[in-house]
Amino acid sequence: MLTLDYANCLSERVGDHGLDPARIGAGSELAQAASHLTERLASSRGTGWERWRELARGPMRAEHLAAVRQVVGRCRGRFDNLVVLGIGGSALGNIALQSALRPGTHNLWEAGANGRGAKERAVPRVFVVDNVDPAYFGSVLDFCRSAAGGGLERTLFNVVSKSGETAETASQFMTVRALLKAAMGAKFKDHIVAITDPAKGTMRQICDADGYATLPVPEGVGGRFSVLSPVGLFSAAMAGIDLDALLDGADAMDRRCSNPDLAQNPAAMLATLLVELGTRKGKSNHVLMPYCNALYLLADWFRQLWAESLGKRVSLTGDTVFAGFTPIKALGTTDQHSQVQLYREGPNDKVFGFIQVDDFGGHDLTIPEGLGIEALGYLEGKSMALLLNAEKRATEYALVDSQRPNFSINFPKLDEHHVGEFIMLWEVVTAYAGLMLNIDAYDQPAVETGKQATFGLMGRAGYDKWKTRVEGTLAPTTYRM
Ligand code: PA5
Repeated sequence: MLTLDYANCLSERVGDHGLDPARIGAGSELAQAASHLTERLASSRGTGWERWRELARGPMRAEHLAAVRQVVGRCRGRFDNLVVLGIGGSALGNIALQSALRPGTHNLWEAGANGRGAKERAVPRVFVVDNVDPAYFGSVLDFCRSAAGGGLERTLFNVVSKSGETAETASQFMTVRALLKAAMGAKFKDHIVAITDPAKGTMRQICDADGYATLPVPEGVGGRFSVLSPVGLFSAAMAGIDLDALLDGADAMDRRCSNPDLAQNPAAMLATLLVELGTRKGKSNHVLMPYCNALYLLADWFRQLWAESLGKRVSLTGDTVFAGFTPIKALGTTDQHSQVQLYREGPNDKVFGFIQVDDFGGHDLTIPEGLGIEALGYLEGKSMALLLNAEKRATEYALVDSQRPNFSINFPKLDEHHVGEFIMLWEVVTAYAGLMLNIDAYDQPAVETGKQATFGLMGRAGYDKWKTRVEGTLAPTTYRM
């Protein structure tokens, strides 16, 4: 199982920049508060916007796995490319799973190869396009249409949108729908799998009219908490990721995070540390730094979860609080040569979360012997994972030496089970942190203004006032050169 080492967040290691261990000891005020919140989360789990907490077990899990496997069964072997269209919570989880659990070069292998050597016609290339950059999207479409890509006949598009009204996803979807219709007439619908609200919304209406295979974005599961629902599971299953192991890992972590004892509950402990250090010690920037390329994009998924859930102007009691912490992603060792100078000697306003992987699933390399250069002799015969993790430990030490609080999450192995644990861990940490900050972790009111202003600028009926507002506020001035 994942382990959490938080000694470097405590005053024993980083002086006044850390938390006094007595404040989180048995019977302390913070331990009692955490225990109370654990009870509160147990009573609300599976209800309202906390239905995500039930995704890894019981009837929701069974229902989703059956539905996903049925659609995957119909699609398997028929496609060389799977193109996921979505944004934000409808894309970041998919990107994170593909990146964490498939080799970095998975899309470069001959179509149908699984990237680990064995030929397996059933596994397509997977592209997750989460932007409307026309050059990028166009290049993916060009590839899929080309002979090298196998053509549109061998391409499946998976549109993921709870609402169906998100301009980015809608415009991508409209583009591929028209392309497919032009290329294959009535058969176009066999090339689209939609994941959307099962009962309502614009995408639902389109699906019902066109007759695509659909999977649900379950009610009460917001985008950034949806990766363990069909939103993330469908593309994962198409890519051969072991869904049972992923969900078993998430469920195991959920059980650990239901323990009322702060010392035994990693989510409650992380939330307590990050909220205390963030609100009382001025550490309002939270860096997640995996020492593992495959987990770098999991840090991107974390950024949305932490930013959108906790960044709130108003508290649950109506006070203006401007809550939240700025999530930052970094990559070890790469960013040791780019960011660590700032991290050690710049403002002491950050908490660092390192991720270490012990077993890279049989992919370690041994640095060859025999170069015969004295200055490099210490590397000979050592494994690359040993070097990577020594560098991580050295950076931990360097940060402690500069009194910068940090913690480590350890993956014994990079696999589905541990990735599932990691996802559930941070979702539960976020739920605790929302309660500790007394804000609604499940809404995103500030994102709406930009969406509505876009509708106004793009001429959507009923949104003229937004266009007027934007153009009035951003009227040309002389401050331009
Ligand atoms: O986390 C969220 O709720 C958002 O990031 C949404 O997932 C994102 O805006 C996409 O919305 P939709 O799925 O309705 O297209």
